Formats: sequence, structure tokens, C-alpha cells
Amino acid sequence: MLKDITRTQEVLTCAENLGLILSKESIELISKEDNWKEILEEFSAEGTFLIEPLALEKKLARTKLAQVVPEKVEVVKKSFVALASERTPNFRVVEEYDVTGKSLSSGTVDDFLRLFRSKFELLSSMLKQRHNLAPIPIKELKTRPKNESVDIIGIVNRKWVTKKGHIAYEVEDMEAKCIVLVMERDKEIMKKAERILEDNVVGVKGAKVGDDFIIIKEVYWPDLPIRPAKLLDEEIYSCGISDLHIGSKLCYEKQLQGFFDYLNGKNLSPKQQERVGKIQYLFVNGDNVAGIGIYPGQLDDLVIKDIYAQYERFEDFMLQVPDYIQVFICPGQHDAVRRAEPQPGIDKEFVPRLSKLKNFHFISSPSWVETEGLKNLVYHGPSVHDLISSVSFLDMSKPQDGMVELLKKRDLMPKYGGKNPYVPEKKDYMVIKEEPDIVWFGDMHCNGYTTYRGTTIINTGTWEGQTDFQKKLGHTPTPCAIPIINLKNRNLIEVQFLREAIEREINE
Ligand SMILES: [Fe+2]
Repeated sequence: MLKDITRTQEVLTCAENLGLILSKESIELISKEDNWKEILEEFSAEGTFLIEPLALEKKLARTKLAQVVPEKVEVVKKSFVALASERTPNFRVVEEYDVTGKSLSSGTVDDFLRLFRSKFELLSSMLKQRHNLAPIPIKELKTRPKNESVDIIGIVNRKWVTKKGHIAYEVEDMEAKCIVLVMERDKEIMKKAERILEDNVVGVKGAKVGDDFIIIKEVYWPDLPIRPAKLLDEEIYSCGISDLHIGSKLCYEKQLQGFFDYLNGKNLSPKQQERVGKIQYLFVNGDNVAGIGIYPGQLDDLVIKDIYAQYERFEDFMLQVPDYIQVFICPGQHDAVRRAEPQPGIDKEFVPRLSKLKNFHFISSPSWVETEGLKNLVYHGPSVHDLISSVSFLDMSKPQDGMVELLKKRDLMPKYGGKNPYVPEKKDYMVIKEEPDIVWFGDMHCNGYTTYRGTTIINTGTWEGQTDFQKKLGHTPTPCAIPIINLKNRNLIEVQFLREAIEREINE
């Protein structure tokens, strides 16, 4: 106690000598720091005379950062010759699918109507290509005889369970609406019907039982066509990371440094170095920093409490990526961009050093990037959350299953009005218009891999430990594991950095 009083008096005397004024809160804060004198002298040198608690917290965060991790900021020298450094990368960020700098929505009712109309047109045109579906406009139902087999395409307005346990949907196309019903006794269709959510565009094969009433026999999705995986002649690798949450107390910074050492071939066997040297593309799938004020009481969970300092730290890490690797970084809900989707790329204001580098690309979420002629769909992934909360057979520990659902629906906005907000842009950025070769998601803090109809599906996990919220949900993250994909054969390996770099093959 006496020691505390003496420290406070020392702080006050020093502040007075330097011409500084401190609030009561600032005195308490700074008195806890061993380097209080240097901090006061820094403020004085900067010409600040009134020291507010907020400015002090920022300074303390930056000072701690510099003290704790100076060795991590050091750029690791290239210790081997990487094959990727000797070839010219072939890539393209597909500008027409990137919302960065192009947000035109004014959020009017007309904008929403346009968005849903566009979604219906795009997805119904995919459904019309299905050979086993011969849809008629819903308004023509009246002209068909009762009990005749009919196909329609519609967007789901409403879903409910009847008193007798049947599932009913109100669906509409651009001109008319009708009710479609899944009979409770038809267990197989009941199971498929669980997938149909409000705002989904579906194809239905059924029997007409009334002028605006159909009983479903089969359900069709826009889906991907069945196709073989497109492979390269050359052995080139892509890898992915996400959900770094830099600034969080739970961020595995030491292990993250292990990943950057790995990328630089440090402490690896010649065989490992050979493979690492073939990594030409790195996808970083959002939640790059922990952010500020993302949820109530978040400040207590942060070790870096200033958003600029969080990005500064993020840059310190990313600057270690060898310059022959092309890096594509999308935002997530924790990044300093708008929360609603599609999210624009992170502004250079937050990442001034990386923005100057030619191999760093700040892209939107979602966005499309072509690498060596392969189409990569890059998306942080929050709509998987809404999907998982609506469909019982999906769960957070297998994000790849939710990702397959989105591909079947060809829609990254499968449910409007859930937890995830969307902006009704004049152009539809959320429909999956192309057939992706590789899909990169994050957000679920859980690694997951699978292939679906020629598309490799990758969820890139996290570098943050289990949060209290996840503990309550019973969700166990899989931190510090990165997927690396060989574009020649689509083989995947996962490297785990929790203790040391441990590689394993993925056979999903
Ligand atoms: Fe995250």
C-alpha cells in the first residue's frame, strides 16, 4: 500500500515537472506500469499536456506490444531457394464480383425487390438447365388438370408445419404464388424438405391438387453440375489461414509465428522445404484482427485495445510472407469494414505497409480469384452460421457440410432475415454464378475439408483459442492448423503448429 502511494506521488511529481496534467483514472492506470516515467516523457516529447485515459490505454497497448514481441517483428531471411520464386504467378482478382469501392445500395424497398428478383432470375435459369425438370409458370397451374404431374420453380416466401404435421411452403415466381406441401408420411421427402428455407429458390416436381396447390414428389436445387476436378500440369500449391483475431488475449501468436517461419522454410527438412517453396498463393479468409466493440464487454478480452495497433501487429506478421507468394485477404465480421455483406476489402488506412506491396490484395467477402486458371471462391462464411441454426443435420464442427449446402443452393445468402445482415446491392454479389474449383471459407474456427462435384472445399480454421461463448455452445475450435493444396492433383495436407510443425495428409 505504502509502495503504491509512493509510486503515485512519484508519478505526480514527474508529471508536474514535465508540465503534464493527468486525470484520476490516468494516474491509477500509469502508476501500475514499471515504465511509467518513459511513458510520461514520451507524452511530453509529443507535445501532449492533458493525458486522457483513452490515449494512455492506446500508448500502453503499443508499448507492451513493442516490449513483448520484438523478435517476432523481425523479417525472417529466406533460407532456401523456392521454386515459386522462379516462376511468374498467373492470377486475377475478378473485379466484377468484388464490391470494394462499388457499393451503390441506398437500402430502399426497391433495392431489396431488385435483389430478390435478380436472385430468382439467376437461380431459376440454373434450375431450367436441369434435364429432369420441365417447369411451368405458377400462373399456368390453373390450366392443368387435377392430379397431373407438374414442375415449378419458385422462391420460398414462408414455411410452416400444419396441424397434421405436413410441411407447407408458400412459393412464388415473378407473376404468381402457390402452396406446396410435403406430406408427413413421405419420410424421404420430409428429410429433403428440411433443407428448404425461406428465400431459397427451388425446383419442385409434384402433383397438382388444387389451382394453387401442389404436393411435392421431388425437390431440385440449382446445384453444381457433376464434373471432374480441373488439374494443373505443374505442381503449385495454395494455402489458407483465417480468423487470426490479432489483438485477442486468446490469439496463438507464438504458433502463428511458427507458420510464418514455415512459409520461409525455417527449420524444415529439404523435402518439406521443397513443398513449401511451391506455395504461390495464400488465402486469408477474414477476422484478421479481433476488432473493437464487436460484442459487449469485448475490451476485457483484448490484449491490444486499439484497432490501428491490431492491424499494425497483423501487418508485422504478414510482412514476413515471401514476396513471391500472392496474398489475398478478405474481411470478416471482426474487421474494420461494414458488418453487412457483401463486405468490401479492408481499407489501406488500416494496412498502409501491406497496401504498398504488389503481392498483397485486399479483396471483398465474397470474392473470386483466378489462380493458374482455377476459380477460387473466397468468403469469410457467416451465412453458414445461419444455415447451421436452421438445419438440424448440420453442425459447427463440420463446416464443410454447410459449405456444400451453399454450393447446392448456389447462394451465399440462403436466408435473409437471420442473424447475418446483407446490403441490397444493385448487383447480386451473393449468388454463386460460376462453378468454383476451390472454395475457401473461415469464420467457423474449425478446419474442414471435402470435395463436391469437382470442387475442393476448404474451411481454414483459426488462430484463436476457445472463447467463453464457444465453451457455452460446446463448440471446440481447431486452432493453428493450415491446409495446403497441391493444384496438380488437389491433394491436401494439413500442417499443425500448436507445438511444432506436424504435417498430415487429408483424405476426405
Ligand atoms: Fe472469427
